[in-house]
Amino acid sequence: MPDFADHSDPSGSLQWPLPQPLPAGGAPLRLAVMASGEGSNFEALVMACAEGRLQGQVVVLAVNRDGCGAQRRAERLAIPCQVFDHRRQPSRQALDQALIALFRAHRVDLVVMAGWMRIVTPVLIEAFPERLLNIHPSLLPSFRGADGVAQALAAGVTLAGCTAHLVTEEVDAGTILVQAAVPVLPEDDRQRLHARIQRQEHRILPMAVTLAAQRLAQG
Ligand code: GRF
Repeated sequence: MPDFADHSDPSGSLQWPLPQPLPAGGAPLRLAVMASGEGSNFEALVMACAEGRLQGQVVVLAVNRDGCGAQRRAERLAIPCQVFDHRRQPSRQALDQALIALFRAHRVDLVVMAGWMRIVTPVLIEAFPERLLNIHPSLLPSFRGADGVAQALAAGVTLAGCTAHLVTEEVDAGTILVQAAVPVLPEDDRQRLHARIQRQEHRILPMAVTLAAQRLAQG
């Protein structure tokens, strides 16, 4: 008899099944985060680790804009942060090489692109196969690329959302790990809708990290 039980999250907005906690006794995941902007997803990951919702530790933050919000949050949270000004790098590949060196020095298990506004090259993707994640503010595969929130509003959808996925060379096209849907309200503009989507991003990103680690453990 097939199992028709409803295993969905009671809030109704999450893809199921929800990730199981990582096995007890395992070493905490060593996480790196890449950010360009406010860094609210970076902080959400740090808090998920601190509160035990994610069995990990954010060991380093990489930013490409000196003085960005993410960098200021790292100072407040006492997380090491390194700035890589992309304008001072001879190529995208050189920037990725510099990031790899930082992540290897910190013995990182997984890398999370949380609002990293640069396209990464195969150099970085191949250095962290199945270990590089991204958070995107749309229900992929809809509205890939720049400004997924504005794209969703322009298309007139009534459900928007966010997706945490693995990174592949094709932009916003890697394996989907977790998604959350967010209704579009009549009074929504880009800012209001994005703010509600971000609340869901903060919820699903730690789950996606756990799922990515479980996929690796299962080979
Ligand atoms: C997020 O909405 C994410 O989906 C997109 O960039 C935004 C970053 O926000 N890729 P923050 O810097 O984490 O606050």
